[in-house]
Amino acid sequence: MGNSLSDAFQEIVLKRRSNRYYDQTVQVPDEVIQRSLERSILSPNSSNMQLWEFYWIKSRDQLNRFTPLCLNQQTARTASHMVAFVTRRDLWKKRMNWHKENIQQEIQNNEPDKYQKRMLGYYTKLVPFAYTNDVLGVMGLVRTIISNAIGLFRPMTRMGGVSDTKIVVHKSCALAAQTFMLSIAAEGYETCPMEGFDQVRARKALGLPRSADICMIISVGKGTEKGIWGERKRVSYDEVVKVI
Ligand SMILES: Cc1cc2nc3c(=O)[nH]c(=O)nc-3n(C[C@H](O)[C@H](O)[C@H](O)COP(=O)(O)O)c2cc1C
Repeated sequence: MGNSLSDAFQEIVLKRRSNRYYDQTVQVPDEVIQRSLERSILSPNSSNMQLWEFYWIKSRDQLNRFTPLCLNQQTARTASHMVAFVTRRDLWKKRMNWHKENIQQEIQNNEPDKYQKRMLGYYTKLVPFAYTNDVLGVMGLVRTIISNAIGLFRPMTRMGGVSDTKIVVHKSCALAAQTFMLSIAAEGYETCPMEGFDQVRARKALGLPRSADICMIISVGKGTEKGIWGERKRVSYDEVVKVI
């Protein structure tokens, strides 16, 4: 194949399978989870807003508490750890200010360069425009009208209401989840992403506001043969890859 990095990556991708039954005699070391979460944080994310949080469900008590919330799935019941990947669209102002402070620190007493000016404009004007949402959905409507009006004349990012903001944060969070799963595979352990959980109860159990969503809960453990539900099946390359 390609080079050794490509071969290693191929191996990791092929190794990662959703495992639904872990060997409960094997405890996945904490360092493996921590390293994998550190890698997750490096995932690409929209406007580098990092509107995510990762709740490491680590103690036996917490694992027992979250297992029924994951509908008693075997992968949750036998897991050594679980991690809830959470979207936090409500934290946009905090992240915006973090960016502003970073840029201002870079500038200090100097004149901002072109790039710094652009970044300041981005985080002080565009980000509030994109992330502000109100209960009545007025801002969503404003965004829809403005972006569609501009879109009549030139290519434009189409923006909308809360659902669009949710999609934005879920996309980034899912990428972090994928980094985590590939990392765990590289470390020699297995995972299973779950959307089969009670969003309302799990959110409450994590003490999160209603604006926070759990994107996925990922179980981690030492996988077993029994935990693999058959061969990996995918529709053909030609069915999903369209070369234009
Ligand atoms: C967003 C998402 C949610 C999933 N939820 C569940 C789940 O609740 N329970 C489960 O057993 N598998 C779940 N899966 C795993 C898929 O069934 C699995 O990825 C798919 O069948 C392909 O198999 P593979 O992961 O072994 O390649 C989920 C996967 C994703 C990406």
